[in-house]
Amino acid sequence: MDLFEAIHTQRAIRRLKPDPIPDSVIRQLLEAAICAPSGGNRQGWVFIVIRDPDVKARLAELYREGFQELLKIPYYRDAGSAPPDSAAGKMLASAHHLAEHLQEAPILILACLKTEGTTPGITMGSSIYPAVQNILLAARGLGIGSTLTTIHRFRDGQVKELLGVPAGVETAALIPLGYPFGKFGRPPRKPVSEVTYFDRWGRPPPW
Ligand SMILES: Cc1cc2nc3c(=O)[nH]c(=O)nc-3n(C[C@H](O)[C@H](O)[C@H](O)COP(=O)(O)O)c2cc1C
Repeated sequence: MDLFEAIHTQRAIRRLKPDPIPDSVIRQLLEAAICAPSGGNRQGWVFIVIRDPDVKARLAELYREGFQELLKIPYYRDAGSAPPDSAAGKMLASAHHLAEHLQEAPILILACLKTEGTTPGITMGSSIYPAVQNILLAARGLGIGSTLTTIHRFRDGQVKELLGVPAGVETAALIPLGYPFGKFGRPPRKPVSEVTYFDRWGRPPPW
């Protein structure tokens, strides 16, 4: 698949078939992940591939608890009262579907970061989320649906205990992956001209 076609049609795919993903394909996703940049090339990432139905089921329970916490945040509470056919309403319905069906995804990948030596703050995430994005894009290229999720972090302690994640490690994203029920398509985004300045803040682009 053309790189730009993959980039332009990668989006949150939350309705996933339970069909298994072959080991060789999982390996391809992770080979893409480890090509990502990381601060000082530390490569402090660890990816836990979760296939065990019991572990997925327990993670899904914790995820659903987290989802209820999320709904208390004003942005998501408002989305809950948005019209069902609005962008916010659709996003929330889709997120709700995922919360109800997370355990049915054939695999979940928990992307972790060993935090030792990394600077706390926004830059810490920049040593793991490029690898996560590589997984999302590689999945798109292979016809596999995925979503970057972080709701598990509402129950981070229990998730770490369940999976045996040691101290000094952050769980950055839980990525459900599976062959999609629906179709890939261009995601709704603000136009580039609305989010770009040239040379200084506030100066619009020449186009
Ligand atoms: C930092 C981050 C955290 C996210 N957490 C979740 C999540 O926990 N659950 C979920 O269903 N989607 C999650 N998403 C997916 C976003 O909702 C999604 O990227 C956004 O709605 C755009 O979707 P689209 O690409 O299909 O347009 C997250 C995305 C990001 C970047």
